[in-house]
Amino acid sequence: MKEILTLNNLDKEDIIKILDKASEIEEGGGKKYADKIMSAIFFEPSTRTKLSFISAMYRLGGKVIELDGGGNNSLKKGESISDTLKTMGLYTDIMVVRSPYEGTAKRGSEIVDIPVINGGDGSNQHPTQTLLDLYTIRKEKGRLDNLNVAVVGDLKYGRTVHSLVEALNKFKGNKVYFVAPKEMMIPKYVTDKLKLEYEITENLEEIVGDVDILYMTRIQEERFENKEHIKRCKGKYIIDKEILKISKKDMSILHSLPRVDEIHTNLDDTPNALYFDQAKNGIYVRESIISMLLEKNEKPKYDGKGYECKNKKCISYIEKLEGKYIGNESNKICFYCEKK
Ligand code: CP
Repeated sequence: MKEILTLNNLDKEDIIKILDKASEIEEGGGKKYADKIMSAIFFEPSTRTKLSFISAMYRLGGKVIELDGGGNNSLKKGESISDTLKTMGLYTDIMVVRSPYEGTAKRGSEIVDIPVINGGDGSNQHPTQTLLDLYTIRKEKGRLDNLNVAVVGDLKYGRTVHSLVEALNKFKGNKVYFVAPKEMMIPKYVTDKLKLEYEITENLEEIVGDVDILYMTRIQEERFENKEHIKRCKGKYIIDKEILKISKKDMSILHSLPRVDEIHTNLDDTPNALYFDQAKNGIYVRESIISMLLEKNEKPKYDGKGYECKNKKCISYIEKLEGKYIGNESNKICFYCEKK
């Protein structure tokens, strides 16, 4: 099994294997790992990702040690993230890491001998969220192809969307509507990777009737550089029960959570609302990921060439690493943050 670092290093077959194993676990199957320890390293706040990973490890019979950015640990003395990860790699058998810096999990994978899972890196990717999103969609719709999916809200900083559309791109016949004001629109480096059909619009009402999956997102206020943009975007997309009057009857509403005000609570009890199902499915999918990686794991290739990444949110920029690129001379992509 490949490490879960970005959607880039997972193919369709890997995804299907993880989802099938998650179904087996949901039905009561799965092996136990009583002698294994997982490190849960969260340099950013988290409820669902952190606690569902911990719950998953306990359900597999394993143990967990935790480290977080605000905790009583040696980051406070100025220790680097890389050295922290290297140390945790000595104490545990598998690691999940969330960080505000893009490429942190990849950096971890490069310097530790245990499997590493990306629990979200800055505004780059959140691959395990995508896997549980796909699991939820497949359970509800019975397929992962020929779907019309609208992703709505903060598409610039929303890492869940960046991973989700990359995953949808691996299946046939999917169409994505990117619905956002220009300040929060999907970045070009994400759409450049897509072969699927997509449309860009600010107007949700105009396209919602065509949609099978409505994927709402929260504004990632903590990542905005220009606070004026938050004012213009805040409250632009708030849905309530009225949306069901103009949507397909069986349109599913997803959200990675936490929500702020994007989805009115009057939708929560409708059969369309799947966001708490997603949160629950996270346990089965994360049990599946942990158990598959503990059985056998493959490290990604580390054969990039010297390169100084200019992305100020890239772990290689923050930690002044030597840096490396993948791709060719005319299309250099940073190994860590995967930006051109
Ligand atoms: N969906 C998600 O990543 O939620 P948390 O930030 O609570 O982990």
